[in-house]
Amino acid sequence: MEPKNTAARYNRIAQWWQTEHQNSSYGITQLERAIKFTVNKGLAIDIGCGSSGRFIKVLSQQGFQTEGLDISVEMIDLAKHLHAEITFYIEDICTWIPQKLYSLISAWDSTFHLPLDKQEPAIEKLCNALEPNGVILFTCGGGHTNSVVSGTFQGQDFDYSTLGVDGFLRILIENHCTCRHLEYDQYPENHVYIIAQKIAPTS
Ligand SMILES: C[S@@+](CC[C@H](N)C(=O)[O-])C[C@H]1O[C@@H](n2cnc3c(N)ncnc32)[C@H](O)[C@@H]1O
Repeated sequence: MEPKNTAARYNRIAQWWQTEHQNSSYGITQLERAIKFTVNKGLAIDIGCGSSGRFIKVLSQQGFQTEGLDISVEMIDLAKHLHAEITFYIEDICTWIPQKLYSLISAWDSTFHLPLDKQEPAIEKLCNALEPNGVILFTCGGGHTNSVVSGTFQGQDFDYSTLGVDGFLRILIENHCTCRHLEYDQYPENHVYIIAQKIAPTS
């Protein structure tokens, strides 16, 4: 599914998402694990932040100067009401051109919606937007090879694609990131989260 179609579906459930997820702890332990690997608490960005800004809240509380990005106009409009002080971007991760380097990038349950051929360039882009020792946290479908599945969520049809964990690990390595943690956190669901860190040049 093209990102603009994913955005249209999330626009329809943006209000539901905010009500449902504002105080949700889903993924927060994993975010806190990622934060522990950071060396510098500079800039952070939450990719596919949704309308609740729940990751943004934790990152800000932990001392990061935090930004949010989402392709859904409705998601961002609602997030701005809760977090007026935060810089938000309405952008498709596939076409977004990062202008800064980040100490931490999170992409929780967002990049798994990208078309299969957009997965590698997107993860590569995020790796290249990390400062030395910067940390990335993202979720993906598991398994060992490419796959695309469809599902219905809150009455909306969505697609999910994955390169398999081996594919994502290859991209991380090729982009000078080392895997710090990889877990099937909802097993037997095929949901994986990965924490990786940009290798700092040795002086
Ligand atoms: C399942 S929600 C997760 C929201 C948030 N990360 C959370 O955990 O509360 C997926 C989010 O990713 C966003 N998204 C999907 N495709 C995107 C893309 N190509 N670029 C930017 N955001 C995208 C959606 O608009 C939606 O807000």
